[in-house]
Amino acid sequence: MATVPRTRALVLGLAQQPWLSRAITRHGMRLGARRFVAGETLDEALAVVAGLNKAGIEATLDYLGESVQDAGQARAAADVYLRMVDEIARRGLASHVSLKASQLGLDLDPNLALELVGRVVERARERGTFVRIDMEDSSRTQATLDLFGALRQRYENVGIVIQAALRRSERDLEELAKLGANVRLCKGAYLEPPEVAFPRKKDVDANYEKLLRGYMASGNYLAVATHDDRMIAAAKRAAQELGVSRDRFEFQMLYGIRPQAQRRLAAEGYRMRVYVPYGTEWYPYFTRRLAERPANVLFLLANLFRR
Ligand code: FDA
Repeated sequence: MATVPRTRALVLGLAQQPWLSRAITRHGMRLGARRFVAGETLDEALAVVAGLNKAGIEATLDYLGESVQDAGQARAAADVYLRMVDEIARRGLASHVSLKASQLGLDLDPNLALELVGRVVERARERGTFVRIDMEDSSRTQATLDLFGALRQRYENVGIVIQAALRRSERDLEELAKLGANVRLCKGAYLEPPEVAFPRKKDVDANYEKLLRGYMASGNYLAVATHDDRMIAAAKRAAQELGVSRDRFEFQMLYGIRPQAQRRLAAEGYRMRVYVPYGTEWYPYFTRRLAERPANVLFLLANLFRR
């Protein structure tokens, strides 16, 4: 087995330690979270989006937070999203929004999530923008797909995410194709057991290429979310071979990761969208970014000793 998953497990495991999360939460912005997080306020994030738009890059804004504990927190998060959608329209920005179903109450009550995410999608439709439901760990895959399915019956401006790491994803994409779903394909950021996910990175990569080609061939819109040059080349190749025009797919990357590649793809005439997260609840997002790449942990440690 490649060493990457082991390193990832180690970093994600350590990140659960309360002493470490307290220390990083206290100093993390200065230690490096700033590289991946656009700021703690909506205003800061909107300024980042405006900058990206100037460079010909679109955005999708994410108000960080997941697994809320009560309905009040879920409603508060939905209110933030409503304000976000209003501000995107008021400022004339080219940006979608991305949200996590567990942030809007999925774990508490699927009907609450349906009501709250539905409200955000409805407002986004009025304002002419689009809502992407991020995919969380595999314990939530089915509930998230069910939520999406219910919303997709009523709205066109809502999309979902599929993770190439999961064994079930090929079947899920077949069902999503029937709904005409707009899908973001990513590799998957969560630590999953081998029964549900491919443990080896090379199998995840092979599945990514297979799924991307299959979904493009279905004629549905695909967001190719990756920083991996091999996947990007595979997407370009598949689009050309299948005759998929450039308004039927886009590339997506995360804020702070490979910014030159983002600009290059935009300059080549591809639609490029950057995922821009902001907010005070950046810890779980930040640790997933560290876990993806051991060099990021070294970067954090270097900042620690530079204090
Ligand atoms: P891979 O991990 O193979 O990395 C390829 C190259 O990209 C690396 O060699 C490095 O150069 C660079 N790179 C990747 N990650 C880096 C990092 N953290 N820091 C610095 N460089 C890095 N996941 C999920 O489970 N649910 C979701 O909803 C989403 N949503 C999402 C949206 C968007 C727009 C993107 C780009 C990604 C996601 N993800 C996600 C995360 C995704 O599943 C995956 O964990 C990361 O994108 C890393 O995988 P890559 O495809 O980049 O390949």
